[in-house]
Parts: sequence; structure tokens; C-alpha cells
Amino acid sequence: MSASHNPISIQGVSLETIAKEFGTPVYVYDGEKITNQILTLKKAFEKVPLKIKYATKALTNISILKLVKRAGGEVDAVSLEEVKICLEAGYEGKDVMYTPSGVSMDEIKEVVGLGAMINLDSISILEQFGQTFGDSIPVCIRINPHIMAGGNAKISVGHIASKFGISIQQLDEILEVVARYQMKVTGLHLHTGSDILDAEVFLKGGNVLFDAAMKFPDLKFLDFGGGFKVGYKEGDVVTDIMAVGNRVSEAFLEFCEKYGRDLELWLEPGKFVVSESGYLLVEANVVKKTPQITFVGVNSGLNHLIRPMMYDAYHGIYNVSNPYGKPATYNVVGYICETDTIAAGRAIEEVRRGDILAIKNAGAYGISMASNYNSRLRPAEVLVWEGKAQLIRKREEFQDLIRNQVILDI
Ligand code: LLP
Repeated sequence: MSASHNPISIQGVSLETIAKEFGTPVYVYDGEKITNQILTLKKAFEKVPLKIKYATKALTNISILKLVKRAGGEVDAVSLEEVKICLEAGYEGKDVMYTPSGVSMDEIKEVVGLGAMINLDSISILEQFGQTFGDSIPVCIRINPHIMAGGNAKISVGHIASKFGISIQQLDEILEVVARYQMKVTGLHLHTGSDILDAEVFLKGGNVLFDAAMKFPDLKFLDFGGGFKVGYKEGDVVTDIMAVGNRVSEAFLEFCEKYGRDLELWLEPGKFVVSESGYLLVEANVVKKTPQITFVGVNSGLNHLIRPMMYDAYHGIYNVSNPYGKPATYNVVGYICETDTIAAGRAIEEVRRGDILAIKNAGAYGISMASNYNSRLRPAEVLVWEGKAQLIRKREEFQDLIRNQVILDI
């Protein structure tokens, strides 16, 4: 294995130095990479009026949201709390697409009050929205296009058995409710899954949207969701973003001509924007040789990065303390009292106790899916921006764990 993929530094700042300065475990993000990903998307879709609604669920740190804004992105939020975080980051309500699933009308009303674009995903909530707001608040409708897509069953959300969106087969019902309350539908949306490689999926989704769109005279945008596949493993095939951009843009422009009006094309990428920008730096607490396996036990686990256990996801792991060391084969495991194997049978530069390992692709769905399981603390977050490493979230402290407990006098 060559050491060339070992991310020894970000923008000239060594990862080992960051680990020493801020301690471990720590998530580190490369701000330049995030900016470049947004620029790449803009380039790929340059032929159409584009809005990039970064899926904030992937990584919700306010400094990251500000960086996305600076690069010209807007945001997609799935909860009232995510909407509020976006506002804290300086977005205006109108910049926020709110795409919840199965929330109450009370929550939706609150988000209407904050000025976000509301994306509705059931007939029942469409009906309640119509009753409450009539034609006074424009809405978007999330369509379930019945397309099986995505890298894993758990992250395939546009198929017929998925809870998300309103089935395209229920289009007549949608139209009936919309007509009954004279609702103003300004957007149609779909999102079929995550880790989608195939450009055809986006075109197939587009065709479903185009067919449905002809029935809605007030449209301003079509939202194609997110799901572009990024590289996790060396040599991984990733979404050819230029090809997807070109093909989808062409089909989109052709449709706009048919529709008779210029529409905006919206995208909601999460992983594409932040996955590769992030590293989880951990320390090797123990190197444990057993008759079969050499384990490296690190000071982290499924509480900080659940993707390997939840989706069998592959995350590259590199020894940044020994980048030119001779590779050996390890099982990298967490310190949680569960079988939290981060990587099995993985060749990594020789690991010694105390070495710092960098786990790649920790930018998306890393800290945002982290927990306090085993009463462990959540790590700090550091952003490298303009060649400087800066703390953007403090490491949790013991008091954070028990702060909300009400301790009875017993
Ligand atoms: N838009 C909607 C409506 C979504 O539900 C999602 C992701 C996205 C956009 C962004 O998808 P992305 O570009 O990040 O693939 N935790 C899983 C991924 C779950 C994604 C949920 N929805 C993982 O770590 O693989």
C-alpha cells in the first residue's frame, strides 16, 4: 500500500499536530474541500438556474453552514431544530427548504412562521396544510417516484415500500386536495436514496417529476434531492457529477421549454458536500494480538461513527503518526461495549500504542449521528480554513452528560 493516500495534513496543517493541540477523538474538516465541492456542483449544472440546498443533517455545525453560505449554497433542513440552526448560521427563512417526514402540523406551522419553504410528504399533511393556509403559503410536494436506488436498503427511500413522499400513483388525490383548497404548489421534490452512482437514476426521477409537473401551473422549481456517491475506498467508482449535471440539465431545459416557463433546479446534496472533507482522528489505546487477529482498540467507536456498523460502510483508516510504516493487517475496533468494528482485516501502516489514526469520510453523518452511548463524551470539531485549524465545537464535558437529569432525593 502506498502512503500517498495517507492524509498526513490538511492545507499544510499536520493532522498529528491537530490531534496534539485539540486532543482526540476529534473531527477535523477541510473547509477548502467543502467550498470546492460546491463549486464543482455549480460547474456541473452551470447550464440551468441552480440552487444547492445543502442537506444539513449530514453535518450541522454552524461554522460549516456559514462556509456553505459563503460558497453560494442554501440549505435543506428536516426538523424545526435544523431550521433554527440554519437561521443561527445567517440564512434567511426563504433560503431554507424544510423537508420533514411524519411531523405534526404544529411543527409545520412554526416553520411556516420562520419563512422556510415547506415540503409536504403525505396526503394527510397536505390536507391539513390546505385547510390551515389555503393559497396563502406556497408549498412544495415530495413525490415518491417508486424508484429503487442507493447503496444500501437502509438508505433507499424512493421505492414503493418507503415511508417517504406521496406515491406518484396518488397524483390524482394530490391534485384533488390542491384544487379543493386552491393551494399554490411552487415546487415538486424527490429524493430516492444515498450513494447513488448511476446517472440514469436522476434522469428516471426527473422524468417522473416532469410528467407530474405538467399538472401544476404555478411551479417555480423542481428539486432532484441529493444522494451523489462519493469515494470511500481507494479506486471507488463515484458519481460522475459532470455527466449527471450535463444530462440532467439537458433534460431539464427541454422540459422547461415544454412547460413554457423557466424553472429552477434544486439539489440537496449532503455527502457530496462534506463527506470527504472530514476525518475522525482517534488514538490507538491498545494493540492486542490474539491467536487469530491483531486488534487496534481506539478511543472512539459506534458512538462517534456508526456508519460501519449501521450500513457496513467502508471508511479508510490511515496511521498519521507512522505514514511510512510497513502495513500490517488489523481489526480496528471501538471502546464501546458492543462489537463496534470500524474496519476488519484492514491493511494499515504499522500501528503502535499512542499512534493517531485518521478515519476518512467522517464529514457526513459522523457527529450528526453521534451519541453518548456508554456515557462517553462527544468529540470536539475543528475546521481547517485558510491554512488555520480552529475549534468549531468544544469537546463535551462530564457535566454535559448529566445536565438534564433530575436527581431525586432517594
Ligand atoms: N435530501 C433528503 C430529503 C434526504 O433525506 C437526504 C438524506 C439528502 C437530501 C442527502 O442525501 P446525501 O446527499 O447525503 O446522500 N445516514 C446515512 C445517509 C442517510 C441519508 C438520509 N437522507 C449514511 O450515513 O449513509
